[in-house]
This record gives sequence, structure tokens and C-alpha cells, in this order.
Amino acid sequence: TPPLGILAALPQELGDLVDAMRAEGTMRTVTLGRRDYHTGTVHGVPCVVTLARVGKVAAAATAGALIHAFGVGKMVFTGVAGGVGREVRVGDIVVADSLLQHDLDASPIFPKYEVPLLGRARFDANGALADRLAAACERFVTDEGTTLTERFRLDGVRVHRGMIVSGDRFVSSEAEVRALALALPDALAVEMEGAAIAQVCYEHDVPCAVVRTISDTADDHAHMSFTSFLTDIAGTYSSGILRRFLDLY
Ligand code: ADE
Repeated sequence: TPPLGILAALPQELGDLVDAMRAEGTMRTVTLGRRDYHTGTVHGVPCVVTLARVGKVAAAATAGALIHAFGVGKMVFTGVAGGVGREVRVGDIVVADSLLQHDLDASPIFPKYEVPLLGRARFDANGALADRLAAACERFVTDEGTTLTERFRLDGVRVHRGMIVSGDRFVSSEAEVRALALALPDALAVEMEGAAIAQVCYEHDVPCAVVRTISDTADDHAHMSFTSFLTDIAGTYSSGILRRFLDLY
């Protein structure tokens, strides 16, 4: 069976995944396009693990390489995002049902958000993969939610399902996040890679899923909140969620 691709933008967002692969003694690292691709097994599952780095171009290029050079059959992206939906708080988890590029606008030639000539704006996550990812998140919250809530003063931890939007902007003002929520009322979270991965996977019929922990609410406090969340907690979430996801795999 083809391996599973596992990606994050930044090293903190991958948690202990590369260490876990190294510990299983099967890891081989291949460098391509200035990225290191780690192949081997993680928790017994054949995987290719890499860092996409930040932004839609970086994500799309990495997804292409995973498909063409490493033959991955499925892809999962993990990391943090800014909360956009009313109920989405720092420490919550969002599993994407669909993804959209909020900064794509070729209007009036094409409808706003639509990927020209592909005829669509929204790309669905694979239902089975997203379900398994959400189940892993629920287990993670059941096992470690109370500890996380107390340790990091989070207001509980909830798992949401819905639309994640992506763009080449770190959204960090009240005005911008409010405009985004107004334009796309069903957007739960904003980040900078997911919809690019989803588009490339759609074009190649590769099932994909995206899970994001909310590090900030994309407002005037976003910079501070993002930075401390990334340093202190993001890895704990990714490690905990992915371990349970691969156990269910
Ligand atoms: N990733 C995490 N927080 C984000 C934000 N506010 N904007 C874009 N990407 C993010």
C-alpha cells in the first residue's frame, strides 16, 4: 500500500513525529527542493513526513512532490490556525470538512474564490480520513483535555468540523478577521496552507485531511497568542492527535 503523507508548516507543528519515526529504526531521509522528506514507519504505519514551510506555494509544491516523487496515497496536514468562527476558541481543534482560498479573487473574470478553469472554490476533505482524524481528536481530548485546560488555562477544549480557509496572510487584526467572517460566514479557522494542499490533492485524486489547533483568534492579539501557543503547546497537540490517528489507521 502507498505510504501516508504527513505534513506541517513549521517544526513545532509536527510534534514528536520525526523522533517517533527515527525511534522505529526505519527512517531514511531524502532531500528534494530544499526540503527533507523522512520515509519509514510511524507507530507501524508507512509514512512520508515533511515540513511544507509557510504559505500556499510552499504547501502546493510539497504536496506535488509527495504525490509524484514519494507516491503517497493519502495526505494529512497538521498544525495551528487562527479561530474565525464565533464558538472557536484558543485551544480548540478544527478538523476540515472543506477548504477554500480566501485570498483568491479573479473576479470579474471568474467568481470570487473560484480556482479558474477548475470550476470550484471549495475542496472537500476526504470523509473517511476526516472522520478518523476527528475521532483521534476526541480521544486526545478525552485523555488529555483536562490536563491541557489546567496547564495552559484554556477555556475547555472542543473539536469542531467545518470549513477552513487559507491565504498568504497572517490575519492579525480585529478588522481583518471580522471582514473575513462576514465574507465567509461558515469559515471556522484561517491558516496559510490547507486549501492549497486540498486543491493539489483534488487534482490528483489523492484523499486528504487537515487538522488545526487554534493558536489565536486572528485579531490584534494574534501575534502574541500564536507565538506562545507554538512554543508551548502546538507539539503536544500534534503528537497526541497523530499518535491516536495512526493507532486507528
Ligand atoms: N495560523 C495560525 N494563526 C493564524 C492566523 N491568525 N492567520 C493565518 N494563519 C494562522
